[in-house]
Amino acid sequence: MKEIVLYHPLITHKLSILRSVETSAKEFREIISELSMLLCYESTRNISMKEIVINTPLEVYKTNRIDKEKITFVAILRAGLSMVDGIVKIMPTAKIGHIGLCRNEETLKPELYYYKVPNNIENTEVFILDPMLATGGSAIETINKLKKDGVKKINFLCVIASPEGIENIKKIHNDVQIYCACVDRCLNDRGYILPGLGDAGDRLYDTK
Ligand code: PRP
Ligand code: URA
Repeated sequence: MKEIVLYHPLITHKLSILRSVETSAKEFREIISELSMLLCYESTRNISMKEIVINTPLEVYKTNRIDKEKITFVAILRAGLSMVDGIVKIMPTAKIGHIGLCRNEETLKPELYYYKVPNNIENTEVFILDPMLATGGSAIETINKLKKDGVKKINFLCVIASPEGIENIKKIHNDVQIYCACVDRCLNDRGYILPGLGDAGDRLYDTK
């Protein structure tokens, strides 16, 4: 499945602020939140709707509403948490799951420390949230867990993706649709995305 990249002047503008080393944690969080709303908008074009009947002040009207029982967002801790805020602004009733993964900086492999997802997740379409797709290890581990739980339709939403990360996901999970705001040049020898924005978790939470 071909990745979907959100080419738009708004995205380029916001990414240029996000990448700058001078951007504060406060501004960084606000921009991740805004980009998440745009990623959510694009990635939910074909989500499940249910037919309802409402009364306008003038007549009875048959329309559709999002079937909130059919959608789950899963944030990869820590950095993915920063995307939840933007998502719930436009989808306040969204079900949210969390997976705690930390990349071992020597092996670059993700280590699992937490996993809690809504009941009946297997009957929903899942949207994984993580601002950075670097080697793809964290994304692949999350997809493995969700598939083991019976989830059939999975999307991966990120702000910056590396070409290597996209290829690594596709090799194992070609049925997962990737959405990103940008595909960067490559990874460096420590698994950081270039030009990238540095360590997203550290920039969000002012840690080292
Ligand atoms: C970062 C990022 C992704 C992961 C991407 O998290 O938020 O989850 O690295 O790298 P990968 O594609 O090579 O797996 P990190 O492990 O640094 O944890 P943090 O969010 O707690 O800082
Ligand atoms: N995780 C990040 O936060 N940034 C990178 O460039 C790679 C992994």
